[in-house]
Amino acid sequence: MSNQSLLTEGWLPGVRSLSFGGDYNPEQWPEEVWAEDLELMRRAGVNLVSIGIFSWGLLEPRPGEFDFGWLDRVIEGLHGAGIRVDLGTPTVVPPQWFWQQNPHVRPVMRDGTVLATASRGICCPSSPEYAEAAVRITTELASRYGDHPALSLWHVHNEYGAPVSECYCEVSAAAFREWLQARYQTLEALNHAWGTAFWGQTYGEWAQVGVPAQSATTSNPAHRLDFARFSNEELLGCFTRERDVLHELSPGIPVTTNFMATNCPSMDLWKWSREVDVVANDHYLTAADPRSQVGLALDADLTRSLAGGRPWILMEHSSSAVNWQPRNLAKAPGEMARNSLSHLARGADAILFFQWRASRRGAEKFHSAMLPHAGANSRVFQEIVQLGADLQGLDAVRGSQVKAQAAILWDWESLWAQDLDWRPTVDLFPRQQVREYYERLWRDKVTVDFAHPTADLSAYQVVLAPASYLLTAEAVANLTAYVEGGGHLVVGPFSGVVDQDDAVHEGGWNGAVRDLLQVSVEEVLPLPADGQVTLSGDLRGSIWTEDLLPLEAETVVEYLDGPAAGKAAVTRRTLGSGTATYVSTVLDHETLTGVLDPVLKLAGVSVQRELPWDLELVSRHGNEGAEYVFAINHAATPVDLPVAGSDLLTGENVSDSAKIPAGGVRVLRR
Ligand code: GAL
Repeated sequence: MSNQSLLTEGWLPGVRSLSFGGDYNPEQWPEEVWAEDLELMRRAGVNLVSIGIFSWGLLEPRPGEFDFGWLDRVIEGLHGAGIRVDLGTPTVVPPQWFWQQNPHVRPVMRDGTVLATASRGICCPSSPEYAEAAVRITTELASRYGDHPALSLWHVHNEYGAPVSECYCEVSAAAFREWLQARYQTLEALNHAWGTAFWGQTYGEWAQVGVPAQSATTSNPAHRLDFARFSNEELLGCFTRERDVLHELSPGIPVTTNFMATNCPSMDLWKWSREVDVVANDHYLTAADPRSQVGLALDADLTRSLAGGRPWILMEHSSSAVNWQPRNLAKAPGEMARNSLSHLARGADAILFFQWRASRRGAEKFHSAMLPHAGANSRVFQEIVQLGADLQGLDAVRGSQVKAQAAILWDWESLWAQDLDWRPTVDLFPRQQVREYYERLWRDKVTVDFAHPTADLSAYQVVLAPASYLLTAEAVANLTAYVEGGGHLVVGPFSGVVDQDDAVHEGGWNGAVRDLLQVSVEEVLPLPADGQVTLSGDLRGSIWTEDLLPLEAETVVEYLDGPAAGKAAVTRRTLGSGTATYVSTVLDHETLTGVLDPVLKLAGVSVQRELPWDLELVSRHGNEGAEYVFAINHAATPVDLPVAGSDLLTGENVSDSAKIPAGGVRVLRR
């Protein structure tokens, strides 16, 4: 049961503005520091903090013995300061006594390693002992604070699935068998789905079915794919178990957990997003990505799509560097504001950080914070104060929506399947393909939603499927109906290859989409490392080519060299009033213009290439036709944007052109 109705009645209870704040861990500090925290939070305009996420060991120091005194004082202090509370259930780190009593609950990795416990995020998700202990602490917290006037949100656990999402222990194996019995009913059905006739793996009794732990060579891919599904559902079960306790004991308070839309590959967030009352996401820049602002936007657009277009919470990001990448680059002046406002532009109504005050001790002492080690006079804190003020000025944006003309297909199950080993090449990365298509549209200022292949696509003028290795019959029917209804579809290489069992569709390499695309993939022709091919129209492909046999499709681009020289590389066919384009090689965001431009034109989607590519432009749409144009300039030179409206940050009225300063942001209402 999910409390979606809460959202239609408003946003988080007691929240009447854009939210600003972060993880607050006062338990790491002497109480004398807390008063200073509140004073500096007031100065920064902080109005929502997440607390208690990691404090199970402090709250329940001995089994069944609770100490809520310090948390009472923290919550009272926040309440007195008018700061709303997002209260964590601390179940991501069971206390040391739990491990002492239950050493068998430590998760077993695929290679048999049993994880040690002096860390976090480690627990067998199928463990009944863990379930019982988690329900107990959640029940205590909900009973004590469930109707506290400062409470706006419950924050269950932390980043489910990270860093560990699977457990290969005996308890997990038994739970997996039960899950398989429910899925397949009979062993015959399982043997068929898994293709166990191959390599003589046929199962004669349920007891013979185990977890796909590391073996001599590659394991059965269908077995692994089901284990990925099972592991996702076991963790989701951990979430819903706590959520149901909270709904019962703390009615009216929404329950969430923080996703990592693109950074936790093992969670199928389409399934999770149906179970949370409000979507919350954590995002950290990838320092090694020279255009990390594009990755940020992709992540934010995926999060908004998970939220079904409703506002969402940026639960964590960083004021400056993180501490867990090989090279942790500090954010340049202004970069944090650009990042925050990009999330806001893409639908977030809460901008929160990890964390409020930098830790002096522990694993994350070199991670930036809103209040860094250098204190309140630091540049970072000054920028935080400025951001808090800016968000107050942007309050009109709250609740407004982002409208997208284009959708990109995203399916975790397909990614899981393609990620398995023994694929035709190690160089074909589906997420990278999605990124290239996304980046093309980001640079062209075309707003994108993400969609599951079975979702209703009728609202989109164009749908891109850069990497849809696994497609079910239902998904193909959906895509076909979309095109017949006048949609324009672009499908990338190695798509429609397998079904839900990772079994190759009948009808060739692209059996699932052959009829829709009217092209047959006769053979796949991966390139050697760093290989490239020349295409007609002055284009270049890399990594992958195919031997295509066009059926009722026309050839729009040809291979000029490489293993498929002289054959079709890109094809298009018309169906009803729509079109379906197939791209059989890997194109980067530069080259993609040559293939996507004609499709965007057919679809009536206009690109804005006269503006600099690194001016990020996206709008939110409010009541009565109000449009809020976010112009985020990632370049070192100012840009003149032809636009009229009033600047929400400065109050200035712009009649025909707004100067967007180098590295700056303007938000114009028109
Ligand atoms: C997140 C996590 C936080 C903190 C942060 C550091 O993934 O939820 O607790 O560890 O990373 O970047």
